[in-house]
Amino acid sequence: MPEASSPIGGTAAPAPRVFSGIQPTADSFHLGNYLGALRQWVSLQDSHEAFYCVVDLHAITVEHDPAVLRRRTKVAIAQLFAMGVDPERATVFAQSHVPEHAELAWVLGCLTGFGEAGRMTQFKDKSSKQGSAGTSVGLFTYPILQAADILLYTPEPGPDEQALRVPVGEDQRQHLELTRTLAGRFNHRFGTTFVEPEAYIPAGAAKITDLQEPTAKMSKSASSPQGIVDVLEEPGPMRKKIMRAVTDTGTEVVYDEEKKAGVTNLLRIYSALEGTAIGDLETRYAGAGYGQFKKDLAQLVLDTFTPIRERTLELLGDEAELDRLLARGAERASRVAVRTMETVRDRVGFVGRGH
Ligand code: AMP
Ligand code: TRP
Repeated sequence: MPEASSPIGGTAAPAPRVFSGIQPTADSFHLGNYLGALRQWVSLQDSHEAFYCVVDLHAITVEHDPAVLRRRTKVAIAQLFAMGVDPERATVFAQSHVPEHAELAWVLGCLTGFGEAGRMTQFKDKSSKQGSAGTSVGLFTYPILQAADILLYTPEPGPDEQALRVPVGEDQRQHLELTRTLAGRFNHRFGTTFVEPEAYIPAGAAKITDLQEPTAKMSKSASSPQGIVDVLEEPGPMRKKIMRAVTDTGTEVVYDEEKKAGVTNLLRIYSALEGTAIGDLETRYAGAGYGQFKKDLAQLVLDTFTPIRERTLELLGDEAELDRLLARGAERASRVAVRTMETVRDRVGFVGRGH
């Protein structure tokens, strides 16, 4: 089973573990990914033993282009480092580099009911968009692979073992519930092996909506280019998108989710990026109008993302270094995953190879 986690920051108790994953399915992460998830990945590495995985196996559950996948995987990894995920402290790796993910997914798939998998709402949504001919079995078993991702890194059960924390958005809650169910079922059938992981919604995670349709989530698949701000976007278009974001009738910069969804979304972005309470922003912009507010927000977004863009391009310019960091991440992740999988193989009843 996974070795005991080493204390971080000199504390006596081992730091709790955190695991999260993100798909390399876009040319850049967007503002929603950043404020809703990735920024928390950066802060969690201070207090946790962190494992962050770019889930390229998940990315092939829908049709893809091999060259594009390869590029996007590297761009995703480079962006994580550029945002401040520290390769010294966090284990950052590509899912396909650790074959135990696919292997454990097989075992867990054999513990999952067909009907149970069919009740996953994300599968129902995605498959209804693809049509049955375009829906792969991989898309159906996607949540089982996600369960394997997570369970490979759960700590060994012990008297004071802390559950693995999995920071995910609301849309992933059902997958996490399935993960817990499968962990419990495995333990029941084969003996206690996994500590059930916990969904973890870190403080400060914000839900960001589309700049053009502020009642819908900012989303790489559903948003129009004008509705979404990419982390790697050039400064000119980035500024324009914020300036052209849909605001509402009226002129007051006030938070009102029902009547002023557009302004409310911009206030949330502003507040999250600057670390200022929304009430203080309302006071600051009282009587100032939308123009000045948006201008300042555009500057704030630029100031946040410009260094990230530059650092990402720098990292992508040195592929050998990026590959070295990836190899090291894979090696560290493997150390844990291999041990978990050895236990699983043994518990399930596979014969040992005798080495
Ligand atoms: P996705 O791009 O949908 O695969 O999401 C990757 C991560 O970003 C997940 O943890 C999501 O919960 C988070 N995320 C995606 N879109 C948003 C958004 N508009 N607001 C906040 N978080 C988001
Ligand atoms: N399904 C997740 C998403 O779409 C990505 C993911 C894959 C994941 N494996 C994971 C997230 C394990 C957390 C833990 O966002």
